Amino acid sequence: MLSQDQIKLYEQQGYLHISNWLEGEPLNQVIRAIDKIEQMDGPEFFREKTSGKIRTVFAPEKFDSSILALLEKSDLPKLVVQLLKTDFYLFQSKLNTKSSLESGVWSWHQDFKFWQEDGMLKPEALTAAIMLTDVEVANGPLLAIPSSQSEGEVESYLNNPDGVHDENLKYMISQTTLAQMIKKHGQIIPITGKAGDITIFHSNLLHSSYQNMGVIDRKLLMFTFNPIENIREVPNPRPDYMVKRNRTVLNPK
Ligand code: SIN
Ligand code: MN
Repeated sequence: MLSQDQIKLYEQQGYLHISNWLEGEPLNQVIRAIDKIEQMDGPEFFREKTSGKIRTVFAPEKFDSSILALLEKSDLPKLVVQLLKTDFYLFQSKLNTKSSLESGVWSWHQDFKFWQEDGMLKPEALTAAIMLTDVEVANGPLLAIPSSQSEGEVESYLNNPDGVHDENLKYMISQTTLAQMIKKHGQIIPITGKAGDITIFHSNLLHSSYQNMGVIDRKLLMFTFNPIENIREVPNPRPDYMVKRNRTVLNPK
């Protein structure tokens, strides 16, 4: 359960970090499952261009029951309903790995800008990112501008019209806009923590990440939850493993 202070903090800063959300054997089980999944292959698997190492695996819960259990048996849906305050479903899930010394950059963006094209109606979704490794300043943490979600949609430009899940993002934010946001909201912070921590962030929070210059591969297991009514059909939807068609309500335990 989240406290009223945690809920207020999420609403103010656009994200909430909880230490030690997962610990001991349950955490190790998920880490082992991800190690196994990283050996697999299929359309869900996106790799670094040069090394071939995993960059993203979409829908990892399809490949192991311990990942699925995080959605069906953990208290995660209970935390989510406290923040969304309505019925919701799993919109997207992915493992984002940043390999030591090999990974690329995710430029500044707001997730909703991209998900709008998948039929999301309002910026009311959130993402829960579970750290499966320690995340330090050196190994490519998420960078965020606290409270930037309160801006609504910030100005962006079309950078790479064909970018689907490309490092060269479809929409980018100019240096001028970034500077304005920092002037207004104060600072960029790295979201660091330990394996088992969880960060929940708003779909309009401005975020990015740089290369992994450390020695620990950085792994974030990310689940995006969307209110059940917050979606419409679109003509050419992205594959089901990227944007889920199954809109079954997740029930808090
Ligand atoms: C994201 O913006 O969804 C991914 C960023 C990252 O994995 O660092
Ligand atoms: Mn993002």
